[in-house]
Amino acid sequence: MTDMHGTKHWDENNSRSFLDYGRYFVPERERQIDIIADLIPAAPGALLVELCPGEGLLSRALLERFGDCRVLALDGSEPMLMQTQRTCRDHAGRLTTGIFELADRDWRSFSEPPHAIVSSLAIHHLDGRQKQTLFADVEEALRPGGVFVVADIVHPPRAAGLAIAARQWDEAVRSRALAIDGDLAAFAEFNRLGWNYFRNPDGEPIDKPSPLADQLGWLSEAGFTGVDCAWLFAGHAIFSGLKP
Ligand SMILES: C[S@@+](CC[C@H](N)C(=O)[O-])C[C@H]1O[C@@H](n2cnc3c(N)ncnc32)[C@H](O)[C@@H]1O
Repeated sequence: MTDMHGTKHWDENNSRSFLDYGRYFVPERERQIDIIADLIPAAPGALLVELCPGEGLLSRALLERFGDCRVLALDGSEPMLMQTQRTCRDHAGRLTTGIFELADRDWRSFSEPPHAIVSSLAIHHLDGRQKQTLFADVEEALRPGGVFVVADIVHPPRAAGLAIAARQWDEAVRSRALAIDGDLAAFAEFNRLGWNYFRNPDGEPIDKPSPLADQLGWLSEAGFTGVDCAWLFAGHAIFSGLKP
C-alpha cells in the first residue's frame, strides 16, 4: 500500500504471506521467543505491550510465561489481530488488542505505565529518525525497572556482513522447510517472494533496517541502561534496554 506521501507500507498481501510462511521464514523462531521473554524481569500482574504481534505467538508465550500479566497487543492489520486473538484464546481475559499505526505517536501514552514493551520483526518498517523517536517515547512510557525488547532484522554496514546474513538466512529457511515439510517448497517461495532482505537491500521500500550499533546507541541516548544485544543470527538481532 502507498500513502499520500508516496511511502509504501505493509499491506494485507504481506500479512497473508507472513501468516502462511512465517514459520519457515523466521530463523530460530522458537528460540527468539524464549529469549525475548527471558529478557523481561518478573513483575506480577504487570502490563506488557507487544507492538505488531502478527499471528500472536510472542503474546501467547508472554501470557503463558507470566501467568498473571496482562498483554496489550497493537497492530496495523485487523486480520493479524484476529489471528492474535485466536492464538491467545486460552488467555483471552488477559489480552487486549488494538489497531494502531506504528509510526504515529498518539498510542504512546498508556493509562498504566507498561513494565515491558516488546516487538518482533516490525520496527524495521520505520526509518532511522522514526526509530529514534520511538525509542525515546518508549523510554518515557515505561515504568521504572521496565524493559524494551526489540527483535528485528538489522542492516550490516559492511558488504561482508550482508553476505554472511544473506547466506545464514537462506540456510535457516532451507533447514526449517526440510524439518517442517521434508521438502524445499517453502524455501522456493522465500526466493520467489524475494524475502531475503540481505540479498537485495534496496529491493523493498517497506524494509528500512538500521545498523545494530546505531540502534544500541539510540537506546542509550534515549536514557535506557544495560543496553545490549542478547542474540544475533542471519541478520536478525534481539536487543534491549532497561528503564532506570
Ligand atoms: C513480519 S510481521 C511480524 C509479526 C510478529 N511480530 C512476528 O514476529 O511473527 C509484521 C507485523 O507488523 C505489522 N505492521 C507492519 N507495519 C506496521 C505499521 N506501520 N503499523 C502497524 N503495524 C504494522 C503487520 O501487520 C504485521 O503484523
